[in-house]
Amino acid sequence: MSSSFAPLAPPKRLLFGPGPSLVAPRVYEAMGKPVVGHLDPFFFQVNEEIRAGLQAAYGTANAFTMAISGTGSAGMEAAISNFVEPGTKFVVFANGFFCDRMSEMGRRQGATVIRYEAPWGQSFDEAAAAEFIRKEQPQAVAFVHGETSTGVATSGEAICAAAHAAGALTIADCVTSLGTMPINLDATGIDVAYSCTQKGLSCPPGLSPISCSPLAMERLKARTSVNHSWYLDLKLLAEYYEGAHRYHHTAPISMFYALREGLALVLEEGVEARYARHKANHEKLVAGLESLGMEMLVQPGIRMWALHTPKVPAGVNDLDVRKKLMERHGIEIQGGFGPLAGQVFRIGLMGEGSTASNVDMLLGALREAMA
Ligand SMILES: Cc1ncc(COP(=O)(O)O)c(C=O)c1O
Repeated sequence: MSSSFAPLAPPKRLLFGPGPSLVAPRVYEAMGKPVVGHLDPFFFQVNEEIRAGLQAAYGTANAFTMAISGTGSAGMEAAISNFVEPGTKFVVFANGFFCDRMSEMGRRQGATVIRYEAPWGQSFDEAAAAEFIRKEQPQAVAFVHGETSTGVATSGEAICAAAHAAGALTIADCVTSLGTMPINLDATGIDVAYSCTQKGLSCPPGLSPISCSPLAMERLKARTSVNHSWYLDLKLLAEYYEGAHRYHHTAPISMFYALREGLALVLEEGVEARYARHKANHEKLVAGLESLGMEMLVQPGIRMWALHTPKVPAGVNDLDVRKKLMERHGIEIQGGFGPLAGQVFRIGLMGEGSTASNVDMLLGALREAMA
């Protein structure tokens, strides 16, 4: 066995898959700053900046907006374990892989999970979805705002309006949409949203930004059953991050620096300008893919701006193409999985990576790899 390691030398990768995305150089610099204690006033100052930045990115005035330690799945589990209790009637709008994960988490909480299904690559007929909620009268309703397994965006207004009419709380997975397209939590009517740091915010994976509406906080306060998850119990986390600053766990300080810097970039650019950039580069990529003879899986109007799913052309092997991109250029894109295995590529343009020159570079490399 070797008694020492060689210097750490990660290979140079151009991350244009479904995430993680390219990390902004300023974020790496921020992560190298000295660590302070997790109860240090400086840490809480950074945390307050993060909360303000997240409010802007989510489009919300929700006071309870913060970053949870853990990846996007921790945010998902925080949302579900705090707001879906044993016996809760929980409707999940299911049109991809991450809706299945939400359903599974709901089941594990002992909820009665009722799924409203649409095929992978499609969204939901709004009137039929609203009617389903009216008929089922659930206590909680969940959907995925940006389904990374398919490239479908579900804005959620109709689902949220019907859920509120039935007295249900709404939960949205915004893991790939935060920082890449408008979410507008308050206007849309999303009560609980969660996301990640490694996609639209150009940070490494490690934190999960969550936001809860006043209605969600009312429900949380009124909850009498104990959350089986101690680590993700939002009542306990609130005592750490807000008011009392009572020790809960040792926050990953360097990741908070990273997120603070990722959000500084969002604010400096302006959220609207950032969305416009993602939309323009999305349109440029789609036009380029179509000119290469590729058909998009998802219909216009419900496409995410950060994740693209062109169909693999007949006679082309997706694995071969991805291997060539990696070997020749260090470019990472991904293929489809589940029912879309071998049928689509998944190409991400997220955060710092969403630029016109990257689109040109990707199209050139794809053209060459498919030739
Ligand atoms: C839509 C969506 N939800 C949830 C997750 C899970 O996030 P993580 O892998 O950071 O735990 C992902 C990850 O890609 C995702 O794309």
